[in-house]
Amino acid sequence: MDIDIVHVELGERSYSIHIGSGAWDFLEEYLRGWNSGGKVMMVTDERVYSLYGHRIESLARAPVSSATVAVVPEGEESKSFHHLEDLCRKMAHAGLDRSSLVVALGGGVVGDLAGLAASVYLRGVSVIQVPTTLLSMVDSSTGGKTGINLPEGKNQVGSFHQPQAVYADTDVLGTLEPRDWFSGMAEVVKISLTLDPELFAYLETVEDLGPEGGVDTRSIVEAACRRKAEVISIDEKEAGPRLVLNFGHTLAHALESSTGLGEIRHGEAVAIGMRAALTLSKQICGLDEGQYKRALAVLEKIPVPDIRYDRSLEQFLSRDKKRVGGRVRYVLLEDIGRCTYMIPDDPGILARALWG
Ligand SMILES: NC(=O)c1ccc[n+]([C@@H]2O[C@H](COP(=O)([O-])OP(=O)(O)OC[C@H]3O[C@@H](n4cnc5c(N)ncnc54)[C@H](O)[C@@H]3O)[C@@H](O)[C@H]2O)c1
Repeated sequence: MDIDIVHVELGERSYSIHIGSGAWDFLEEYLRGWNSGGKVMMVTDERVYSLYGHRIESLARAPVSSATVAVVPEGEESKSFHHLEDLCRKMAHAGLDRSSLVVALGGGVVGDLAGLAASVYLRGVSVIQVPTTLLSMVDSSTGGKTGINLPEGKNQVGSFHQPQAVYADTDVLGTLEPRDWFSGMAEVVKISLTLDPELFAYLETVEDLGPEGGVDTRSIVEAACRRKAEVISIDEKEAGPRLVLNFGHTLAHALESSTGLGEIRHGEAVAIGMRAALTLSKQICGLDEGQYKRALAVLEKIPVPDIRYDRSLEQFLSRDKKRVGGRVRYVLLEDIGRCTYMIPDDPGILARALWG
């Protein structure tokens, strides 16, 4: 087995991301060695369980006293207070205590929900993240952000709760729906545009960024995790440098809320948000026409649904959780790999960059 390891340097809370084919074997070893005496709960969703239940049950037998497996419904609806309460109550019934471990095994939804439950149950128990979608491998499993949604907006309730470790087994990506694959690819493009011109240049060379397009999956996951780990190591709580990871996300979160949570994939919304941010970057931040066209050409390899302008968008934009003193900060590009910020007088400016 040949695994890449990326280290997230956070002092006492440092951890490693294990990436590659067979990473779940390392997870099994970790669970076998889990000897705090505390119980283990594995959390997954219905689809992942239907595909990998056999393997999950065998992983659950690895800890000294076998793990309990909790299965939540698939999709964004699980990121709710109802499912948070349900999960915390399952933890209580299973007898989890402060020395226990939660294993979040699934996409970003499972990671966000189980991560939040682990951070609030008994004021915090340990969690490890086992991402099973491209999006969760390259983005949501690392960095400690957890969350659920409110009708008022995406991810409006959450916490920072770093995992003990991350195990990203790229073998499981073969069963992803193409839409979910592309959704993750949008976050890869985001990392390349904001932090990694070399990764961006590689993505330019791959004509088809789809699941069958021949992209070197392990390399892009490794590159994205490495860049994200570097940023988190210097700015864990998003006071400054980590904000670049929100490129495209202000409009994305507003779109996800205004279209009805779950209707549009997170990465699709991010791809649309990045198009708007690129237009503004060209108009306001001096992003060169040539670089703009290069960026757009890569973004256009990601299919997105045709979304129409909706007035509720501006309301959601003004509620963005990254606002400071009531004003929203937008991440824009000066160049590929170089970001800047702006605080517009009018939060609707992003929507108008797309819909005029
Ligand atoms: N915490 C963070 O830093 C962060 C960052 C980015 C996104 N997010 C959140 O992540 C969520 C999106 O994540 P996602 O795209 O992984 O969505 P998801 O968890 O809903 O997964 C998408 C679909 O793929 C299925 N699936 C998961 N693994 C599979 C596999 N191996 N094979 C087949 N199907 C599989 C799931 O059941 C689901 O139907 C959003 O809620 C978003 O807000 C969080």
